[in-house]
Amino acid sequence: MAKEPVRVLVTGAAGQIGYALVPMIARGVMLGPDQPVILHMLDIPPAAEALNGVKMELIDAAFPLLKGVVATTDVVEACTGVNIAVMVGGFPRKEGMERKDVMTKNVSIYKSQASALEKHAAANCKVLVVANPANTNALILKEFAPSIPEKNITCLTRLDHNRALGQIAEKLKVQVSDVKNAIIWGNHSSTQYPDVNHATACGKPVRELVKNDAWLNGEFITTVQQRGAAIIKARKLSSALSAASGACDHIRDWVLGTPEGTWVSMGVYSDGSYNVPAGLIYSFPVTCRNGEWTIVQGLPIDEFSRKKMDATADELSEEKALAYSCLS
Ligand code: NAD
Ligand code: LMR
Repeated sequence: MAKEPVRVLVTGAAGQIGYALVPMIARGVMLGPDQPVILHMLDIPPAAEALNGVKMELIDAAFPLLKGVVATTDVVEACTGVNIAVMVGGFPRKEGMERKDVMTKNVSIYKSQASALEKHAAANCKVLVVANPANTNALILKEFAPSIPEKNITCLTRLDHNRALGQIAEKLKVQVSDVKNAIIWGNHSSTQYPDVNHATACGKPVRELVKNDAWLNGEFITTVQQRGAAIIKARKLSSALSAASGACDHIRDWVLGTPEGTWVSMGVYSDGSYNVPAGLIYSFPVTCRNGEWTIVQGLPIDEFSRKKMDATADELSEEKALAYSCLS
């Protein structure tokens, strides 16, 4: 029997990530090849015409799984009845900016959209924040939507996770699908800590295969931390297709589950695991079952990792304070 359609909201849908993301959702990349979807697309009035153009293209693409399209600049209409909300709307950073430099513009959007989601989304709506600063926008959304369970509000660090897998695959000349269990700890920013201490390639520890701790503790980390800036420098625009693909991976694994023996990185509400201050949205290794994520527990943390995990937590605490000062 055909499944009931799932309503998926994409905010900022007329932007570049939106343009890459909505066809992926309509093709079943996010929720599976047998899951019909109704797309809700929100943007702001200056982008209304472009948004309508995206709607026209979705119709023209004749996606069999796409059962309806709502394209609107009305946040209430956009949020009504949605089961999944992918929050991409906001302003991207430009060359020379840090992600927190877009804070003033973006956190106020997340405060106001929090109430719309809280009031109008379906019960148990799952939220993924993509717009930067992603962790702090997600935190603000959580704080201003207190009736949405905190487990349902997450941010995107899957792009960083995939970047880490990609760098290891390139170094070892193996398929990226053979590299598993890297971890992104902390903030989706240049302080994030890409950790390969527990990662494997073709079933063997990455550290044993790479045989170059200086590279793993140095250039590998900075390459992943700075990859967003490198893309901006090269494209004069921030990453879009890889961000859209990461967003699909994040929701797919959250809803349909992570493969046995594999974890992924998600920005989630910290419960104090690994001595990360509770109450931050921090990227952890997680496994997913039955639509719920669980932080992987008990991984040994060496002194090098501890310092890096603490530094990125400190930055998130500072961002939280800065976000509140922008909102007051
Ligand atoms: P973009 O400028 O191309 O698109 C953003 C869209 O959001 C625009 O169409 C804009 O009109 C719309 N918008 C602005 N305010 C809005 C509001 N209040 N409600 C709804 N829509 C609104 O930018 P982009 O390249 O698509 O990037 C979007 C965001 O994603 C940026 O903040 C970027 O930094 C971030 N990003 C995050 C990751 C990640 O891994 N977390 C990766 C790439 C980009
Ligand atoms: C990315 O990681 O590509 C995005 O967050 C865009 C940026 O500003 O780096």
